[in-house]
Amino acid sequence: MYQPGLYVRSNASQRECVSRMLREWAGRLRWSREEQEAVLDVGCGPGDVTAQLLLPRLPSSVRVLVGHDVSEAMVRYAAAAHAALAPRLRFLCTDIAARDLPATPLGACAQQLQGFHKVFSFYALHWVVDQRTALRNIHSLLRPGGEALLSLVANAPMYDTYIAMQNNPRWCEFMQDAYSFMPPYKRSRDPVNDFSVVLQEAGFNIYACRLEHFSYRYPTMQEFGDSTMVLNPFLKRVPEELKTIYIKDFMREYQREKVKYMSMVSPQELERNDTTLYHSVLITHVEKGNQDVS
Ligand SMILES: C[S@@+](CC[C@H](N)C(=O)[O-])C[C@H]1O[C@@H](n2cnc3c(N)ncnc32)[C@H](O)[C@@H]1O
Repeated sequence: MYQPGLYVRSNASQRECVSRMLREWAGRLRWSREEQEAVLDVGCGPGDVTAQLLLPRLPSSVRVLVGHDVSEAMVRYAAAAHAALAPRLRFLCTDIAARDLPATPLGACAQQLQGFHKVFSFYALHWVVDQRTALRNIHSLLRPGGEALLSLVANAPMYDTYIAMQNNPRWCEFMQDAYSFMPPYKRSRDPVNDFSVVLQEAGFNIYACRLEHFSYRYPTMQEFGDSTMVLNPFLKRVPEELKTIYIKDFMREYQREKVKYMSMVSPQELERNDTTLYHSVLITHVEKGNQDVS
């Protein structure tokens, strides 16, 4: 995942889904006519979504868009690739679940800006195990009255494939911690409710919280495989001489899990097509009340 160049070449599905989300959801946010607002993108990765999809949708009155990520490699790549848009667009390295946020570069930046007016996050928060701290931090980074539009993966057949591969004696030694890569609400019976509880505990007022299913058809098997493998945290542990066979086994298992998953969540949408990627996403629009209680 921390291969920014490869990720940029393989994230067509995420880009398509973020475009759809922004088309549908971005118009719900209230923008000030008087104030020059400050905006944050949490878990910005290599910055292509931040610079090419988010920035063009922001009003020209936005004075600064900050992208941040826990990975230094991602932040370095983003800053170099989008240097021409600095200083209006800038990138910082910080863990959104940091216990001492004010001591981090992002905490210092928020203090200097007197807080962010808007926070966005796409395809990042499901990587964060400590959801409560992450959501509390996002709340504390916002100004009173600020809004956030957050999206995170709730479920996808890829995660069931991790478990199937972990149960395969040939691959289990490389995948013993597969459960620690599960999205936090994957095992939940009611992900919208469970995520809403965390949002409310963090102090947010919830305008909307929904679970949406996405599918994206890659034009070729190669692109489909690359997009799956770039997110696979185990591949780097597999010895070089076994990688081809690991990928082949993974993709075969993945196709099986895909059919099972879609038969459960939305059988009418199941295209029996080898290059279609499916996942479900929690999308929420929340506000930090004007009375800052944190
Ligand atoms: C799948 S990428 C998504 C990148 C970008 N938002 C997009 O939509 O293409 C997920 C990103 O979340 C970042 N991430 C994971 N855990 C994080 C954390 N605790 N704090 C900040 N970023 C994190 C990863 O480093 C990675 O770059």
